[in-house]
Amino acid sequence: MDAVNVGLIGLGNVGSGTLAILTENAEQIALKLGFPLRVKAVCSRSVASRKIPQAAGEILKTTDWREVVQHPEIDVVAELVGGTTVAREIIDAATKHGKSVVTANKELMAACGAEIWDRAIAAGINLAMEASVAGGIPIHTVLREGISGDRVTTLYGILNGTSNYILTEIEKHGSAFERVLAEAQRLGYAEADPTADVDGLDARSKLAILAALAFGEKITPSDIYTEGIRRIQPIDFDYAHQLAHTIRLVCAARQTPAGLILSVRPALIPQSTILAGVQGAYNAVWVRGKYGEDTFYYGRGAGSAPTGVAVVSDLMRVAREIRAGSPERVSPFAHDRLGEYKPISVTLQQSAYYLRFRVVDQPGIIAKLSRVLADKRISLEAVLQLPSENPQDRPFVITVEPCSEQSIREALQEMSHNDFLVDPPLAMPMEKSL
Ligand SMILES: NC(=O)c1ccc[n+]([C@@H]2O[C@H](COP(=O)([O-])OP(=O)(O)OC[C@H]3O[C@@H](n4cnc5c(N)ncnc54)[C@H](OP(=O)(O)O)[C@@H]3O)[C@@H](O)[C@H]2O)c1
Repeated sequence: MDAVNVGLIGLGNVGSGTLAILTENAEQIALKLGFPLRVKAVCSRSVASRKIPQAAGEILKTTDWREVVQHPEIDVVAELVGGTTVAREIIDAATKHGKSVVTANKELMAACGAEIWDRAIAAGINLAMEASVAGGIPIHTVLREGISGDRVTTLYGILNGTSNYILTEIEKHGSAFERVLAEAQRLGYAEADPTADVDGLDARSKLAILAALAFGEKITPSDIYTEGIRRIQPIDFDYAHQLAHTIRLVCAARQTPAGLILSVRPALIPQSTILAGVQGAYNAVWVRGKYGEDTFYYGRGAGSAPTGVAVVSDLMRVAREIRAGSPERVSPFAHDRLGEYKPISVTLQQSAYYLRFRVVDQPGIIAKLSRVLADKRISLEAVLQLPSENPQDRPFVITVEPCSEQSIREALQEMSHNDFLVDPPLAMPMEKSL
């Protein structure tokens, strides 16, 4: 059978990994497909200085992506550029020229995936985006196919490898956030501008996509309550461990009687839960279904080769569909059929909370804070204070029994007027039901 021809646009981390796998693993891929998958063209602004594997043979090398999307022999375009501007133009132009598209672009798919899918379906082309969330974990296929017969009630994920690496390094070595971040940047685990990772924005895009796939809702990323990891200190791990918990940046989507509540935030999770074992740059997704109950998926969340595998596997799936004359006909952003998501505020969430205070020591502090909690009908569970030397900056923790996020916010607001506080209290939910 004739080859299906691929054009790769972007030869950075993901593009170079994809190209290496397509060339090194070409024989296996052809055996599995029953026909070859051939790279016909590669494009990047710096293509002249990029190392192209010899096994790729004679291919078009260009700095102009238009040459790829218009190439008459190319069947599938892989958009591996990133961002929401040029990438969008590439996908729109490829669709217009009847090329199928594979993308790894979470930011773009979270922002306007539904629209892109609608256009692809109207044009009768195939679209695939497995690599856009949790690089090496085939979570799209799981939600679209593997457990699509279930009714998802809860989805939890550790979806940002950089944040998870930083948190687990703070946990292991007791180093301050800034120090670990600088080291992560030196090692290439964190970008020079770490905002998207440590402030939760990257994880938010991924949660928006996964929640759309899992719940069939149209989700606007900015509707998701998002809090990053900058305020987490080694002392928080000391207290979390005392409570037999650890801390992770948890992406959560829960179906409640009021509706779907979405959040990306640091949370305490029991050390006994499988999610607590996710260390370093690894990712994990845990899904609970009404019928099939719990399933758990774990793997590398990023990196040239793991993400390359996801892109190549998508290229293979799309190539099979092209050969079988069967494009995807139903958008994974199925909100047209299942209704539009109405944002439910995270303030409605009920949870136990960890409240960490740093204070200038003086008598009566706990009594004052307890009074505020009692006024808000929040039941105190425990007070923990580990030994500390500095009376000008003494940390301690109060844990409270399940209550609404709204009441916790009101209590913190009231407490913040006390001048014995060194900085605003830190509140984290304590996840119990994993
Ligand atoms: N890195 C990961 O592990 C990972 C994991 C999952 C998903 N993703 C997603 O995969 C996508 C690519 O990420 P990446 O890490 O591979 O990015 P990257 O290393 O920055 O590579 C981007 C590539 O796109 C090329 N490019 C940028 N603008 C271009 C233009 N106007 N015309 C032609 N080429 C252009 C760049 O060209 P130059 O050669 O000139 O630099 C570079 O080769 C993003 O959407 C990202 O979110 C990445």
